[in-house]
Formats: sequence, structure tokens, C-alpha cells
Amino acid sequence: MKGIILAGGAGSRLYPLTLVASKQLQPVYDKPMVYYPLTTLIEGGIRDICLISTPQDLPRFRQLLGDGSRFGLTIDYREQAKPEGIAQAFLIAESFIGNDSVALILGDNIFYGGDTFQRAFADFKSGATIFGYHVNDPERYGVVEFDAQGKAVSIEEKPKSPKSNFAVPGLYIYDNEVVCITKALQPSARGELEITAVNVEYLRRGALHVQRLARGFAWLDAGTSSSLHDASAYVQTIEKRAGIKIGCPEEAAFRQGFVSLVQLEDIVGKIPNCEYRAYLEAEVIAEARRLQ
Ligand code: DAU
Repeated sequence: MKGIILAGGAGSRLYPLTLVASKQLQPVYDKPMVYYPLTTLIEGGIRDICLISTPQDLPRFRQLLGDGSRFGLTIDYREQAKPEGIAQAFLIAESFIGNDSVALILGDNIFYGGDTFQRAFADFKSGATIFGYHVNDPERYGVVEFDAQGKAVSIEEKPKSPKSNFAVPGLYIYDNEVVCITKALQPSARGELEITAVNVEYLRRGALHVQRLARGFAWLDAGTSSSLHDASAYVQTIEKRAGIKIGCPEEAAFRQGFVSLVQLEDIVGKIPNCEYRAYLEAEVIAEARRLQ
């Protein structure tokens, strides 16, 4: 399975922060926002990743993540000239996707807890798998409605009168049909190729699987100054309490076996002295050596 991180958009809600660096490069507590969705894909076992962003921001993502080799990945970079919809990612990345299935994650979505995604990636066979998460403000999102048997019966984008409290988070898994489906879409009233329209088509075909995320699961969106601050506070709270890091791609790559212990030691040796390096040395490398 291939992975796409969509990290473009205007970032207008975070102005003036986004004058010089895009939203997905802003810090969420102790690391850039894009580290979190990147880690989610790595934890799901995905090694081939395409990062899509604006022509002006792409060089900074390259600077941050390089060719992906220090995470045991290959990272392909593609431009989205204008923010013409989330689903446009499948057209921009068509040659990258090839004949594969694909997971798309939004660069400003932060997930934490459980192994639902890992299992969803591993179990995926065909059609589409998306998720439902209970929120108190569903009108801000794609909203999925379930019948009495728990089967998804409708999906609407930012409905004025939501039919449920289940929002669709920004992580979507599709078979290769997604490229054809997107090609047949018409732009919405706001001029975008809507991801919800893709999901509606899978629903129409009877091929949409919606998994509800458990109560203990955290889905944070960091798209406004206030939610960015909340996300930082959340990450800080968990990290301080548990002594582990959320969204640490070096650690995830090591635990997935994408990089060996020797490679990790080499990578960490190149990180300047800082708390991030100290964590990797003490909690990941030293622990792995002890268990050898
Ligand atoms: O966060 C989950 C929600 O994301 C879903 O529930 C909605 O169904 C989906 O439409 C989307 O809603 P948003 O209002 O959050 O979409 P937004 O336009 O803010 O885009 C989400 C991210 O994707 C944002 O970080 C910018 C990036 N993006 C968006 C568009 C439209 C791009 O990189 N290119 C684009 O063309």
C-alpha cells in the first residue's frame, strides 16, 4: 500500500504564522505538525510515501524530511498548484500510486491511541475504509450516518443539520479504483474535488467500510490557533506523564523494522544535542540494547 500526505492549502486560518511556513510545518509541542501523520503512516507499515504541498512550501518539506531514508522510507514530492480539493491528491499522485491501494492522510490531522489503523491497513483488501469519530461539532466535518445495525447509510460534507455526531477524520484507505472515481468527479460548489464525494461513490457501490474509533482514541485537528494550542498541550501532557513521544518517526521506523538499531544509532548521532536526541538515546536505543 502507498501513502499520501496532503500538506498544502492556504493556511489562512493560522495567519500570520503561515506567512513564512505552512501550517503543517508549525510546531505541535516539540515537533513539526507533519511528523504526526508521517508517524501514523509508518506505524501502519507504509514505506512509499508521496508528500503533496504548494510549490512555495515543498522545498521546506524536502529540507525537513529529505528522501525519507533516515526513516527507512522513500518520499516522493509533488506540487499542488492550487488548493482544488483533497481528492485532487489522487490525480497529482496517479503515477506514484500505480496499480496499488493507497492511504491518504491530511497533514494537519493528529491521531493517538490504539492499533485500529494498523489493523485497518493490514486487513484492507478492496473498496474504501474510512473512520467515524464522535465529536460535538459535526457540522465542521464530513459526517457519516449509521443505521441500527451500525452500517453507514449516508455521508455529507459539512451539513447544516448533521444526521449524526460522527465526523470522518482525515485518514482514508482506498483501492486503486479511487483514481478512476476521482477522474469522474465534478468540482463542488466551492470549486473543489471533494473527498466526501469519493466516499459517497464508494458507498453507492456498496464498497465503503466505516470503522468507528473507540472512545479512548484521540483525534486532534490543528487547523486554528486555538486547536493548535490545544493539540500542543495534549501532546505535552501525554509525553510528560508517560515518558514516551507521540509522533516520533525515527522511533516508529525502528519499531517497524524499517531501520536497524545500528542505522538508528547513526541517525541519532547526527541529531544535535537536544531533548529529542536524549529521548531516542535513552528510551529507544538504550532500551533496545538492554533487551538484546
Ligand atoms: O479533518 C477532517 C476533515 O477534512 C473531513 O471531515 C472533511 O470531510 C474534509 O473535507 C476536510 O475538511 P476541512 O474543512 O478540514 O478541509 P480543509 O479544506 O481545511 O483541508 C484539510 C487539509 O488538507 C488542510 O490542512 C489543507 C489540506 N488541503 C486541502 C485542500 C482543499 C490541501 O493540501 N489541498 C487542498 O486542495
